[in-house]
Amino acid sequence: MKVTVMGAGWVGIVSAAAFARFGHEVVCTDIRDERIVALNSGDLPFFEPGLFELVAEGLASGRLQFSLGTDETIREADVVMCAVGTPPTANGSADLSAVFECARQFGRASVKKSVFVIKSTVPAGTAQRCKEIIEEEQRLRQTNLSFSVASNPEFLAEGNAVRDALTPERVVVGCDSERYFNFFEELYAPLIAQNIPVVFMSVASSELTKYAANAFLATKLSFINEIANYAEIVGADPREVVKGIGLDSRIGPKFLRPGVGYGGSCFPKDVRALIASGNEAGYRFRILPEVDRVNTFQRVRYYEKLSGALGGVKGRRIVIWGLSYKPETDDIRESPALYFIDRLQQEGADIVAYDPRVKESIHSVFPALALAPSAEESLKGADALVLLTEWEEFSKLTVAEIRAKMLGSVIVDGRGVWKEIQNGLIT
Ligand code: UDX
Repeated sequence: MKVTVMGAGWVGIVSAAAFARFGHEVVCTDIRDERIVALNSGDLPFFEPGLFELVAEGLASGRLQFSLGTDETIREADVVMCAVGTPPTANGSADLSAVFECARQFGRASVKKSVFVIKSTVPAGTAQRCKEIIEEEQRLRQTNLSFSVASNPEFLAEGNAVRDALTPERVVVGCDSERYFNFFEELYAPLIAQNIPVVFMSVASSELTKYAANAFLATKLSFINEIANYAEIVGADPREVVKGIGLDSRIGPKFLRPGVGYGGSCFPKDVRALIASGNEAGYRFRILPEVDRVNTFQRVRYYEKLSGALGGVKGRRIVIWGLSYKPETDDIRESPALYFIDRLQQEGADIVAYDPRVKESIHSVFPALALAPSAEESLKGADALVLLTEWEEFSKLTVAEIRAKMLGSVIVDGRGVWKEIQNGLIT
């Protein structure tokens, strides 16, 4: 199949490279010239395990290309997939202007029966608006081509995206016209052959499924964080509680690790966007605003553990381990580290940070932040260590080994890495 993926961001590149592996002819487009030039020579704009190899394989086979988003890239495509960003607006709702621009271009350029697929995370009702835009464009050029607008959300977790794209647990397709189901059966044929479920549903259900999945996982995290906070007061060990409830198959063991809370480009944004689209539709979510509040509160709580243990952070040398919002990515969006560094700077601490992947990019937010060349090096003269991302290299060191290299002894474990540390703090 000929597939055009609009948007060479994280979702677009991963999806395009996966479709090329599935055997399709894929063009991934963007409006940024320098990005396209870099991608065609195999340079990725971010780190994602296994993606470099997958993209290189696609480029070498000739099945994957990167191109500026011209009308030609749309014309002959069977499937045009929209994977552009939907950043938050001031009230938390998703900014859909880039999605609508893609729909407009599809309506203007397409010359054959094809399907416009929304992979970007968008509120229910967006596909319907795209359909109207495409119809309007077709009217303007006096054509009446057969097309469908479908929703096919991604469930890619950063750090694991290549595996999630090549062997997902399920594929969700929202398509209101059965006449277009065969497009998806062909697109995902290699997955169907492996018995991976491709679930067809209405477009609106599919749009909501993406938000519901992320909001549910975020709720699970805020729930376990509240249980952990309470456990601390009554002398229970949250890790034991997690084991006890996680063995119940109705609950499951995953996404129950308490700590400084979730970050990243999805959970915070999607929870707020779902609240905003609920409000627009006349439904006020009760749980979700609390999920967001609990999450915001977690980082404050852990910060106060640090500051309380040191009797104030002014003039103290504080080491931050982990700047990305989770391991195996260099993404710092909504990372708890940003909150810590900002507040530590305001309160006059002497900060040094180390992250195995995040280097200069942190200087766009904190230009003067000192970065250590290694984890061990960072500990010299440290009054306290704060772990905010559970990179594997950190957990390989024991608390005793770490303390032996520090000046002080305070460790805040924001991710529950070390068994010896109860409730995230050892003094
Ligand atoms: C998430 C969804 O998992 C993915 O399906 C969706 O498409 C995009 O959003 P991502 O944000 O990349 O993916 O990471 P994920 O692994 O889900 O973690 C999200 C956040 O939750 C991270 O900050 C992580 O540190 C935190 N987390 C996760 C916990 O605090 N505890 C846990 O037990 C699990």
